[in-house]
Order: sequence, then structure tokens, then C-alpha cells
Amino acid sequence: MTTSDQKITPWEVAAAGGVDYEKLMRDFGAQAIDAALIARIERATGRRAHVFLRRGLFYSHRDLEAILEAHEAGRPFYLYTGRGPSSDSLHFGHLVPFMFTKYLQEAFDVPLVVQMTDDEKFLWKGHSLAEVHKFLIENVKDIIACGFDVQKTFIFSNFAYMGHMYPLVVQIQRLISAHTAAAAFGFDDQANVGKWAFPATQAAPSFSSAFPHIFGGRVDVPCLIPCAIDQDPYFRVTRDVAPRLGLLKPSLIHSKFFPALQGHHTKMGSSDPNSAIFLTDEPAVVADKVKKHAFSGGGATKEEQLAHGANLEVDVAYQWLRFFLDDDDRVDDIGRRYAKGDPTMLTGHVKQILIDTLNDMIARHKKARAQLTDQIVATFMAVREM
Ligand code: TYM
Repeated sequence: MTTSDQKITPWEVAAAGGVDYEKLMRDFGAQAIDAALIARIERATGRRAHVFLRRGLFYSHRDLEAILEAHEAGRPFYLYTGRGPSSDSLHFGHLVPFMFTKYLQEAFDVPLVVQMTDDEKFLWKGHSLAEVHKFLIENVKDIIACGFDVQKTFIFSNFAYMGHMYPLVVQIQRLISAHTAAAAFGFDDQANVGKWAFPATQAAPSFSSAFPHIFGGRVDVPCLIPCAIDQDPYFRVTRDVAPRLGLLKPSLIHSKFFPALQGHHTKMGSSDPNSAIFLTDEPAVVADKVKKHAFSGGGATKEEQLAHGANLEVDVAYQWLRFFLDDDDRVDDIGRRYAKGDPTMLTGHVKQILIDTLNDMIARHKKARAQLTDQIVATFMAVREM
């Protein structure tokens, strides 16, 4: 969607001075996640809410109440998320929805489908089919390494699974006019026709009828989609067509963008390797990137930091730690000392805590990934009863 001063689409995030998330939510017609909703999630799951919810990274939703009502009444629902395989390695921004989805799967004990949009990346990025396939396998391994339950997780390539959902895809295509697609996605008459058709393919997994092997042909199992807010245009269109097909509108839970190392005004992206930390980065590379590129809200000199303290709002190292350190007391303590200019918590200290935290997460991820065999990957991707 383009508003006066920000343009957020699945392919482009442009917002001079930073994304205004509240405005985006209002413009998109989504709802805020407030303390009462978080408390309801905690009651429904019987566990503390995920740190991404408690600290406002997942901040907006559509019809999340409908999902909670279903769960509270003992009715099933399922989770749907995805990844466009356009590079060898995921970065921490990509990891956000998958870490959160893992929590949702565990907390609600529900099935998950993960769409790998190899077709989308072929149509948009100019990669060869062979390259996209290679990225797909690498990315699937990164996703599995987040810890999903193989008994309840189906990961599929669009190229491989399309035959199963094509009848549903064309039903959706028939309801999306070129006019609607141009308005929602900004396509113009230079866009290849594959792009125009693609949104129906990302819409289809929002309906349980796309997965007869999981839902036994049921068309009424509600769907919850965790994603960053850039994916919302796909699902606004999906929610518009759902009632016309006699199907349920999917619910959504949106995150903000995980900020680039350079700061909040921009999102972490693969196109600028210095904006992102990748799961393949070696410990020394992580240290170097954080030290050189993480925007600091601290004083320009040690003296200034001691005199005035740091601006936590804009300090990237502190903001990232808020999302990765679950321990409230520890985060508060770091923030309090850093903000007031305590000599034991200077910018270098905060950056070092972040470096250690990231390297620890990457090491655990690499270890989990190294244990994956081709057989395990094939099992996650097999069309099978669950
Ligand atoms: P992709 O591969 O661009 O991104 C994968 C997921 O990561 C989210 N994301 C981010 N989240 C937080 N901070 C960031 N900096 C950041 N960058 C990306 C995206 O919102 C997405 O959730 N077309 C999709 C694939 C897809 C999909 C879906 C995603 C198919 N079906 C259903 C979500 C839900 C894509 O190319 O995602």
C-alpha cells in the first residue's frame, strides 16, 4: 500500500524517517495487539507469552479473536507461513516469523503448513530454476532447524505441490481482477503475467481445502498466518475473496520489521549484507558487523555517554537485545545502566552482549542444522496424512 509518506509492499519498504507502524496498521485496517489480548493468549495456552509479543514486535492482527475462540471451544485451527527462497541463507529478520511460529505451534499444539514460493522468486528475481531449487533446499533446512514438530509440519514447494491445490488456485484467480491486483500490488502493464497470477497461489494455503491429506477434505478449519506486515496485501485480497468462495477468512498476526543494523528507518534485508546478520555468518563477521555498523544511541564520545547516557529508542544493539533476551530483569538492567550513562554499561559493552547473544543463537542453529539428513527434509516435505 502506498500512503502519502510510506510505501510498504511485499517487495519494497520505503519510508523516509522510518516506518510509522501505527499508521500502517490503521491504513491497512488491522487491529492493535493490546495487553488484554496478550493476557487472553496466555490463558489459552497456559504459558507466558513469547518475548516477541511481550515486547511489541508482533503488534497487530486481523481476527485473532476468532482463532482464540476456536481454540477455547476445543475446535482445531492451523498455522500457515512461508518463505520466498531468494538467497542461500536466512537472516535474523527472516527468522522472526519462524521463531514465533514455532512458539505458536508448541503453545497451541496445532498443524503448520509452510509455503516455499520458489515460483514467486523465479518470476521476480531473475534466478534460474536450478538456483531457486538450491535456495529452497538450503532455506528449508534453516526453517526445520528452528525446531518444528515433524509430526505436525508440512513444508512444500509450490512447484512440487501446485497440482494438489491448482483447482483452488484457479477458483481464487477467477475472483481477482487485474484492477484489484494492480491496486493491491502496484503491478503495471510491464509486469510479466506470472506476477499477476501469483497472488492466488499465496492465497490458496489460507484455506484448509488446499490440504486434503491433513484436513481430510474439511473446508472449515480456520487458519492463522504469522508474518511481517509486508505480506499483508496478499492476505487482504485473500480475505476479500474468501466469502465469495464460501470459505473462512484467514486470521493474521503481524510483526514489525526487524530493523537493519543501520537503524529503525530501514528493515534488515538480504540486498545489503551489512544491514543484516545471516545464519551463516562466522563469529568474527558478526562481531565486525555489530561493531562497525550497529547504529548507536550512545554518546559520541565516552565523556558524552557518561554525562548524558544513551537514547535506547534508536540504539540498535539494545533494541535487538530486547527481542532476543527473554529475561526481563536482565534487559531492564542493561537498559537502565546504559540510559543513565553508567561506566559499566557503555556502547561497547552493550554491543558485546549482543555479539555473544547472536553468536550463541547462530551456533545452536548451525548445530541443529548439521543434524538434518536428506531423509528428515524429505519427510517434512512429503504429502502425507498427519
Ligand atoms: P520472504 O522470504 O520475503 O520473508 C519470509 C518471512 O520473513 C518476513 N520478513 C521479516 N520479518 C521481520 N523483519 C524483517 N526484516 C523481515 N524480512 C522478511 C516476511 O514477512 C515473511 O513472513 N511471499 C513470501 C513467502 C510466503 C509467505 C506466506 C510469508 C508465502 N506464503 C505466508 C508469510 C506468510 C516471501 O517472499 O517471504
